[in-house]
Amino acid sequence: MKSGTPNHFETDSAASRGRALLITARSMPVRTILAILVAQTVAINSAQANDEPALKTAFRDHFLIGTAVNRSMTTGAAFRRTTDQVNADIALVRKHFNLVVAENDTKWALIHPREGQDGYDFGPADAFVNFGWTNEMYLVGHTLVWHSQTPNWVFAGTNPPPAADSAAPPPGPGRPGGGFGRYTGPRASRDELLQRMRDHIHTVVGRYRGKIKVWDVVNEAIADGGTNVLRNSLWLEIIGPDFIAKAFEYAHEADPDAILRYNDYGLENPAKRRKLLTLIRSLQEQKVPVTAIGSQAHVNASTTFDSMDQALTEMATLGLPIHITELDVNLSEGGQRTTGADIANNTAATQSGLVDDADRRQAEAYAGIFRAFVKHAPHVKMVTFWGVNDAVSWRARGKPLLFDGENRPKPAFQAVIAESRNPGPSKPSP
Ligand code: G3I
Repeated sequence: MKSGTPNHFETDSAASRGRALLITARSMPVRTILAILVAQTVAINSAQANDEPALKTAFRDHFLIGTAVNRSMTTGAAFRRTTDQVNADIALVRKHFNLVVAENDTKWALIHPREGQDGYDFGPADAFVNFGWTNEMYLVGHTLVWHSQTPNWVFAGTNPPPAADSAAPPPGPGRPGGGFGRYTGPRASRDELLQRMRDHIHTVVGRYRGKIKVWDVVNEAIADGGTNVLRNSLWLEIIGPDFIAKAFEYAHEADPDAILRYNDYGLENPAKRRKLLTLIRSLQEQKVPVTAIGSQAHVNASTTFDSMDQALTEMATLGLPIHITELDVNLSEGGQRTTGADIANNTAATQSGLVDDADRRQAEAYAGIFRAFVKHAPHVKMVTFWGVNDAVSWRARGKPLLFDGENRPKPAFQAVIAESRNPGPSKPSP
């Protein structure tokens, strides 16, 4: 936020107290500031739950602020939440966010569950697009090619590959296919699978052309461990490593104006980040139309300004915009050993209750993370949270978001707002 810019703090008495605190805070240690913010947030929560400043306004000179929305929010149909809670969730989205992405409804398994032109279920995705469009929000599509949440029919065929190719590793947790087991029947040929990929991308991207501005074209293709750059998947095994280039080519054909993103998690880890740099540089050398890097940022309470600063500094060397695509800060004790994002590993990552002093630690982590985002604002164009509040989060037990299950701002919220006032390079929105 540029100094002197009129903003939400001017008319907000609770937040004015926050500003007064921030002015006097410059000489205080970070822990002291956070302790005061935690105490102050508790007071504000109980007295004025709805008077908090809007995230999108606080960061309007830095980047867009987004959230993943679920089907209840885009259709109004309550699922595991009461109607009142869903309405409150929707109100929170409208207040704080100027970007939305569907948490599930634009994934292959949901939008294209059956083979053929009649195999699409566009209803929920249309509802998502209508929700974002009518609320004048920037729309992001997630995701076109992924090893998970892709129906088995996509990989099935009548042309089994030669015997040597069928010596694939055995099925295991998190293996490709639907994401919950691996397709083991006769496989499509390379040409069949490329044709299905092209049809899917052209149909889905084409349908929302001009509305969905950014697509996660390829999601999570990099291997977590070992020395291989690419994770083993049916896309890789059947098509070969150029499945990534092909997906971007098809997406570019379908919407030449869309921003086309490579999206992955764990990029705070130096070894995985090196693989990202190798992959993207190779795509750039081949003139593949990859035009943004998506860093999911499913992190934990140990994440610091320094680790995020280092990650962003290295990713920025690619010369592409950086989008933070799925931010959350896992508070579960089990989650402090991993920043994985596989749904199959979520139970392990949300075990053993919360870390000690959870609110303060989360506020401290979010403060450092956003300080790094603001520092790198010339490269960071959008920051998207993976969910609206702790109750609807994919890892609800890790309480990873800025709002609790009743949509009350947590201490981390105040810590994030405070970072919007740190002087840093500003730039127009994308
Ligand atoms: O829709 C069905 C419902 O009909 C059924 O009754 C219910 C029974 O459990 O399941 C529902 O589907 C669930 C779906 O979310 C919608 O809630 C699936 O079981 C569940 O596995 C699925 O999880 C999603 C997960 O991706 C799947 O891989 C999470 O919501 C979603 O947050 C998560 O998001 C991923 C990103 O796409 C990629 N990066 C990692 C991130 C976290 O895993």
